[in-house]
Parts: sequence; structure tokens; C-alpha cells
Amino acid sequence: MSGGTTELASPFRVLGIETSCDETAAAVVVDGQHALSSVVSSQVDLHARFGGVVPELASRAHLELLPPVVAEAMVEAGLDGDGVDAVAATVGPGLIGSLLVGLSAAKAMAMVWGVPFVGVNHLEAHLYAAFLEEPDLEPPLLVLLASGAHTMVAHMAGHGDYEVLGTTLDDAAGEAYDKVARFLGLGYPGGPAIDRLAMEGDPTAIAFPRGMAGEGYDFSFSGLKTSVITYVRKHPDVAVADVAASFQEAVVDVLVSKARAAAAAVGAKGLVLAGGVAANSSLRERVLDACIADGLRAFLPSRSLCTDNAAMVAAAGWWRLRSDGPTPLDAGGNPTLGLGQPASHAPA
Ligand code: KG4
Ligand code: ZN
Repeated sequence: MSGGTTELASPFRVLGIETSCDETAAAVVVDGQHALSSVVSSQVDLHARFGGVVPELASRAHLELLPPVVAEAMVEAGLDGDGVDAVAATVGPGLIGSLLVGLSAAKAMAMVWGVPFVGVNHLEAHLYAAFLEEPDLEPPLLVLLASGAHTMVAHMAGHGDYEVLGTTLDDAAGEAYDKVARFLGLGYPGGPAIDRLAMEGDPTAIAFPRGMAGEGYDFSFSGLKTSVITYVRKHPDVAVADVAASFQEAVVDVLVSKARAAAAAVGAKGLVLAGGVAANSSLRERVLDACIADGLRAFLPSRSLCTDNAAMVAAAGWWRLRSDGPTPLDAGGNPTLGLGQPASHAPA
């Protein structure tokens, strides 16, 4: 991270707030590592009938849900305002209206309690989910981050020091899951539904394309999605479980092979899985097998820490506060913030 490191007093309790998409979440984390509470209120039911997140509905729902979610996180942690040492909130990337709800609330609480405010990069927060469960986790690491909006492999050389080696050129892996699930009538969000159904299907039943296989570290999932749609239209009697399993096999094949190649290229000793798609059963199994075969340590956060939550925001906030100090209160939300860009980075 930039600048020197300022040691924080221990115990140091960070209240984290996450509202970048459709989860309203708050958590209290001590010393960047021990979660005292982690409350997530999902808006899935609100958006399900639209087949995806409706930004305006999401920000309105955050407004209603955030006060009780924060109150629950504080009660569960056994704290009132006096016990909080800093407030961290996601500043981007994400839906701007949703980001602003969490950001404004976090700044207000920091001001009232007279403690620092820390703006957190949502992508960086996903990486720090692994640090919540692995006290001895140390960079350099290879990170495979796959969520509803992002898919990338990055080299984490040190805390806050990232080199993005490859990224998706079109759809994110989670987006492909959601779009294919929607087409197959499996509902929203698609990832968990396909994950479950795939267990009953044959992953070798249909040879779907592996986007950009062998072409560096970038990804492409849009062709795969189109291929699934075309196949099902041509073969209306196909077993849906076989389609789910074969689609998943194609996604996982590409994610694992690129992460492995990138880890070998940078000489990484460990591989961290992050983002909502990291909750996928097949991906977790295949990453573990690959790490054993390649002599890498595998760091797989538990499923509830892979999908959006505020404990990861509080953890990343603790590290950022140590390295960069508090974020100015005039920092705005940034819908397109990239991994490695500081929270105060002006929107593109
Ligand atoms: O990280 P996340 O909660 O939100 C974003 O930052 O985008 O990721 C959500 C994405 C959705 O696309 C969802 O379908 C996918 O993660 N997902 C999964 C699974 N659980 C969630 N994809 C595959 N398998 C799962 N078990
Ligand atoms: Zn996320």
C-alpha cells in the first residue's frame, strides 16, 4: 500500500458497511481479522421477478434496510457507538445510488462518533475475505476474483499492491451464470441454482466452447452464453441438468486453467479465490485439486464470505487505514473503481 504503515491500537474495531449492489450489510471486525458480527440482508426477493438487480429499487431498499442492519451488527458485537474505532464503507465499484446510501451513512456515523472514515474498494474487499479466516495468509499471492460484475486474475505482490494480469473482455463469470439461469428458467441469482442442478447432470454431455482458452489471461464468457442458448433452442428435449453441468464445466475449466497458468508465471506460492462465484462447489473442488497438483496453498473463504458481505469491507478498511490513513469526507462514490485504485480516485 502507498506510504508507510501506521500501527493501530489493539483491539481496533471497524464497523464495515456494504451497499454496492443488492446486499445491505454491516459487520464489526476487530484488528482486521476477527468478525464480531456480520449481518447481510439480501434483496434477492425484491429483484427476482425482474430477473436481475433494478438499480433504483436497490438504492431505495438500502435506505430502508441499512439502519436495522447496522443496529443488528452493533448489538451482535455487543457495542454501542463508543466501542467503534473507525467506520469503513464501500465506495466503488457498484451502482452509484446504492453506493451513496452506505457511504453517506458511514460518513455520518464517523462524524457523530468522532472516529476516522475509510473508503473501501469493493474488489479489494473481496480479496480480504480470505484474510478473515487465514491468520497466516501473506502475499505474494495469485488471486482469482469472479463475481457478478467482475472476473480477473491478479498478482497481489503485497498489501494493496496488485497487478491485474487478465480480465473479462465481455460478461463476468457470475453474469454468465445469471444469464444462462434466466434463459433456462432457473430464477435469479443464477449461480446457486446452476450449482445445485449441475450436481445431477453430466458435465461431459455437451462440449460447450472454452472462451479464449490458451490465449493469455483474459476471459470471454459471452460466446459460451450464446452457445448454450443456441444449443437448447436446437435441442429442446435436452436434460436441463446436463446443460447446467456442461455450462459450469466450461466456465470452471477456463477459470482454473488461467489461474493456474498465471500462478506459475508469477511464481505465486498461494492462490486466493474471491467473489460470489468462488462459492461454487465445482470451482472450489477443482481449485483445491489444482493447488495440490501444483504445490500451491489454496485459500478458499467460506461461502458466506465469498458473496457480498460487510466483514470483508471492515477487514480491508483496517488494512487501508493502517497504510493510507483516513479517507477525506468529501470522497464520492465511484461506480467504475478498478482494483488497486484508491478509494478517493475520481470517477472515470
Ligand atoms: O460477489 P457477489 O456477491 O456480488 C458482486 O460483487 O457481483 O457475486 C454475485 C455473483 C452472482 O452472479 C451469482 O450468481 C454468483 O455470484 N454466485 C455463484 C454462486 N453463488 C453466487 N455462481 C456460481 N456458483 C455459486 N454457488
Ligand atoms: Zn461483490
